[in-house]
Amino acid sequence: MTTLPGLLVSFEGVDGCGKSTQAELLCEALVGRGLPVGAAGAPAAVIREPGGTEAGERIRALLLHGPDGLAPWTEALLYAAARAQLVAEVVRPALAAGRVLVLDRFLDSSLAYQGHARGLGVDVVYALNEPGLQGVLPDVTFVLDVDPATGLARVGGAPDRIEREGLEFQRRVRDGFRELAARFPGRLRLVDGERPPGVVAAEIEAECGRLLEARRV
Ligand code: TYD
Repeated sequence: MTTLPGLLVSFEGVDGCGKSTQAELLCEALVGRGLPVGAAGAPAAVIREPGGTEAGERIRALLLHGPDGLAPWTEALLYAAARAQLVAEVVRPALAAGRVLVLDRFLDSSLAYQGHARGLGVDVVYALNEPGLQGVLPDVTFVLDVDPATGLARVGGAPDRIEREGLEFQRRVRDGFRELAARFPGRLRLVDGERPPGVVAAEIEAECGRLLEARRV
């Protein structure tokens, strides 16, 4: 939650949890309501992390398809760097202009993947990200909770550097998200992602509708 007038919604979960589909569906639904969705001057779209800016996309290539043996702190700093650029270039200006942003991953991915699953520590990874957030936090974060084995089976194509970590790593990521949901119950909503996509989408849209009304975006 920020003091800026727009609305920021993020989607989170293990690899293959279906959050990209849900983010797209929500984006379409919000556009259907006539809301200004996405970065100003760009077609309404979900914004993905890492990425969403030119610098962020280059950092993404390094993170997902770069050399093996990236040290855990290098990885955490690169995700934080891509996020700081996204906040400065896209998120803050859009929220200040009263727009609605749908993010496919944000801060909580770093807390669950680097903080929890890599074992760097959730609090220290949060501290690392905080200056780059410039006070911006999502108004609501939907964590799509699925069995990591189902998620990994859904991932298509050649696995990226993080997906190659395997099932045990994804299990720790899921535990990390669940702990975050328990720790920040006001912002994070754990959503059962094993149900049919239409059912999940309806629940998410209803929740966003309530928030929009409360915020009068
Ligand atoms: P992506 O292809 O976007 O995966 P997905 O479609 O599952 O979201 O790749 C992003 C990968 O980066 C994914 O494995 C999660 C990982 N990641 C982190 O480890 N930390 C982070 O802060 C973020 C944003 C992503």
